Amino acid sequence: MDLRSQLAELIPEQQERLKKLKTDHGKTQLGNITVDMVIGGMRGMTGLLWETSLLDPEEGIRFRGLSIPECQNVLPAAHPGGEPLPEGLLWLLLTGKVPSKEQVDALSKELHIRSTVPDHVYRAIDSLPLSAHPMTQFTTGVMALQVQSEFQKAYENGLSKAKFWEPTYEDSLNLIAQLPLVASYIYRRLYKNGQVIPADNSLDYGANFSRMLGFDDPKMQELMRLYVTIHSDHEGGNVSAHTAHLVASALSDPYLSFGAALNGLAGPLHGLANQEVLLWIKSVVDECGENITAEQLKEYVWKTLKSGKVVPGYGHGVLRKTDPRYTCQREFALKHLPDDPLFQLVSKLYEVVPPILTELGKVKNPWPNVDAHSGVLLNHFGLTEARYFTVLFGVSRSIGICSQLIWDRALGLPLERPKSVTMDWLENHCKKAAA
Ligand SMILES: CC(C)(COP(=O)(O)OP(=O)(O)OC[C@H]1O[C@@H](n2cnc3c(N)ncnc32)[C@H](O)[C@@H]1OP(=O)(O)O)[C@@H](O)C(=O)NCCC(=O)NCCS
Repeated sequence: MDLRSQLAELIPEQQERLKKLKTDHGKTQLGNITVDMVIGGMRGMTGLLWETSLLDPEEGIRFRGLSIPECQNVLPAAHPGGEPLPEGLLWLLLTGKVPSKEQVDALSKELHIRSTVPDHVYRAIDSLPLSAHPMTQFTTGVMALQVQSEFQKAYENGLSKAKFWEPTYEDSLNLIAQLPLVASYIYRRLYKNGQVIPADNSLDYGANFSRMLGFDDPKMQELMRLYVTIHSDHEGGNVSAHTAHLVASALSDPYLSFGAALNGLAGPLHGLANQEVLLWIKSVVDECGENITAEQLKEYVWKTLKSGKVVPGYGHGVLRKTDPRYTCQREFALKHLPDDPLFQLVSKLYEVVPPILTELGKVKNPWPNVDAHSGVLLNHFGLTEARYFTVLFGVSRSIGICSQLIWDRALGLPLERPKSVTMDWLENHCKKAAA
């Protein structure tokens, strides 16, 4: 069965499930809202339905119930024992079911068919100066792709609500298929004199993306498969996922919603942290050399903190342990590049940074997140341009975000509209509560 047919079969039962949940438990309380939560960026406030993945503060992410090591075990790979194919994860996120290798191969082919990027997209990117941040160029490309939105056309033609998920599915799959072309175009434009490498339709999603960027090393292809898989989704409350969900709740199409998400991903406290980590690590090497001692490293970390900056790649809004996305990248490095000097530096940081952040007293999670590791792996295989890294994150995020957007429309989720209040309101409310 193909992906769309399997999805179409699942939708009515999931609609029923949600209806029953609302009827039976609509008024059940999930917790209390405190003033701290309202001021503190809604930390700890449960307020979103997000089906594709769930984040446990101690355990890390589960994609449709499966941890990263479980995904590595059960999702089809390009070769036995290899990293999961991102197409398989897309299937899993959309349906909750583990696909067969045949299903994944068919999806790879389908994505190739959907991947043609109209010329005006490249022209829109070319109209920006080379100095424009790669994320600005990427979002521009996504906005230029939007002109082909099937959802927008269908909505203008009066499509009924029950069918909203169908053009959302078409837009989402097209977008996921086209993004590697747009992203690699930007990379080649910026760093390789505009010499574009055409797609190879015999390759899977990750390997083809790696190829179009200019990297044919089979290990780099494996890294790209792993990278796209682990960066795809991190439940719904993070800035990029939440932004897409919010914007799409106004019935903006997947291109508009994903473009908005990318603008959030481009912030240094979110996706841009992967750029910041490699730049920071390189600044350590520039100042202290590659054979830096633990003492020197401690001093450097303190220097960063004392200058009012964060240590990039450490800490998290939800996680309270080492991010399993960090751990699996560390395992990849131990297997494929154990002697890489920057990997060894990353390993040293793992020992040095957490005690310092703990000593600082205010950091809730002193452990490394996904961004602490990704840069040195890419750098090892020759993708050294840190400013570009967040674009790779963006391509990956499309898989989780778009999967959920399809379900948002299939489940008929409403316009998002939380209540906001003023400081006056809070003060008065608290006075009354204390009386
Ligand atoms: C991810 C992050 C934004 C989470 O923010 P958060 O939920 O507010 O984190 P906390 O509740 O632990 O923050 C409490 C304090 O510790 C600080 N803190 C958290 N992580 C820190 C870090 N890595 N380095 C220095 N200080 C840090 C915060 O800036 C905050 O300080 P403040 O009260 O003076 O403003 C934060 O940990 C951070 O800035 N990390 C570095 C950037 C990064 O790696 N981002 C990618 C995340 S996947």
